[in-house]
Amino acid sequence: MSNKSLNNKFLDSGFGYSTIQRPFSFQKIAPIIQSLNQHAGLAVLDLGCGPGVHADYFTTHNYTGVDLNPAYIESARKNKSGEFIVGDVCNSDSILAERRFDIIISNSIFHHLSDEQVVATLKACQKLLTEAGTFHLVDLYLTERSPSLSNFLARIDRGTYARTFDNLHSIVAPYFSDFTSSTFRLSFAGVKLWNMAYIRGTMGKLHS
Ligand SMILES: C[S@@+](CC[C@H](N)C(=O)[O-])C[C@H]1O[C@@H](n2cnc3c(N)ncnc32)[C@H](O)[C@@H]1O
Repeated sequence: MSNKSLNNKFLDSGFGYSTIQRPFSFQKIAPIIQSLNQHAGLAVLDLGCGPGVHADYFTTHNYTGVDLNPAYIESARKNKSGEFIVGDVCNSDSILAERRFDIIISNSIFHHLSDEQVVATLKACQKLLTEAGTFHLVDLYLTERSPSLSNFLARIDRGTYARTFDNLHSIVAPYFSDFTSSTFRLSFAGVKLWNMAYIRGTMGKLHS
């Protein structure tokens, strides 16, 4: 087995992913937490929730996580509080049927999705988000500056659809009625690693 597939096998387990993510989990959720109105009991949907790495920040909310990887969901059900569902986020409107959410989070998943899958996911979310609800997107992005450590890390990621900030913006913009965006860096031991985008908004009318 190659080093890459051994590495992916470890990351595909709930334990492996949670361990690797430990130094970054708070950094990745911080912009979302800071922007939220912390009303307990709001319905939160976490798309591509992994083994529930962010679930602990929403224990006073009504939290639901969806992920394609059954091992992650099994780990989340054992170790976290909330509801965890195995499923494809592109079909989250049919998985979650008539349910509505005040907050939808998409953290570090869009670089795992093709443009078509991103669009299907956003369309599903337009149905699932309440009128006053907010969508929170965090994802890595590629910079023009190459070579860079951030670009290198994005290129060797398991997700094969890393995009530039402008590209990410242009794909998601039609599905928001109003949004703001910012950038930040994930770091470890003082070393700056991934470039991250944070896009927060309300969602527009349904697109056909
Ligand atoms: C980099 S991990 C992010 C996990 C977590 N959100 C975080 O911020 O650490 C990407 C996650 O997206 C999930 N994923 C990829 N494609 C998916 C899809 N089509 N539907 C549901 N989950 C998917 C993977 O299984 C993985 O858990």
